[in-house]
Amino acid sequence: QRVPVLTIDGPVSSGKGTVARRVACRMAWHLLDSGALYRVLGLYAERQGVALDDEPALTRLARELPVVFREGDGDIQVLLAGEDIGQLIRDERVGELASQVAVLQPVRDALLARQQAFAEAPGLVADGRDMGTVVFRQAPLKIFLTASPEERARRRYNQLKEKGFNANLPALIEDIRARDDRDMQRSVAPLRPADDAIVIDSTHLSVEDVVDRILEEAARRS
Ligand code: C5P
Repeated sequence: QRVPVLTIDGPVSSGKGTVARRVACRMAWHLLDSGALYRVLGLYAERQGVALDDEPALTRLARELPVVFREGDGDIQVLLAGEDIGQLIRDERVGELASQVAVLQPVRDALLARQQAFAEAPGLVADGRDMGTVVFRQAPLKIFLTASPEERARRRYNQLKEKGFNANLPALIEDIRARDDRDMQRSVAPLRPADDAIVIDSTHLSVEDVVDRILEEAARRS
């Protein structure tokens, strides 16, 4: 990759989405939300009536996926065959579909080139699980963002409450622990920091603290 890439990987609810968006904005770089790609594929498969264990069919869908990410002012529109599905893919249910299609290696392979194509001048901030370990192995700056399961559950709890949903904190902590286990133990692209990643534990940091810390690292390297 000639274009500089900054990768931000981490577990669920680590805040990497928000952080990646702000860092990309401050640097005026492009943004890849790779989780959104898996979410779109999960939704597309469901709509096409393809079973989540039908590997050949899912791989075909991953190759043809008619999705467009349109960068606007501070926000990104997600269009599936022209339909704006940005809100829909944030659904908990779609996240579940995403994590099921994401365990299939041929599916991941089919999405690889598509993700790498996001690396355009002047630079790219890529957020996900395997950005630093697989998709952008050559990236000069890799961040692994984490926080304790309790803190991540608390953030998730507040988000849900804000949206007017019911939430149960002990259940959320359990849920996050289970997802961590599944993401880290899976044989395909397991979640782990790249050897050359900077690990940031945000348990006691605000979003702005984390963003500043990453921008400092980026400035030091440029
Ligand atoms: O980050 P987000 O919650 O949107 O990702 C949805 C799901 O997609 C995750 O639970 C994970 O299983 C999968 N994923 C992945 N590799 C990525 C990004 C997301 O396997 N690079």
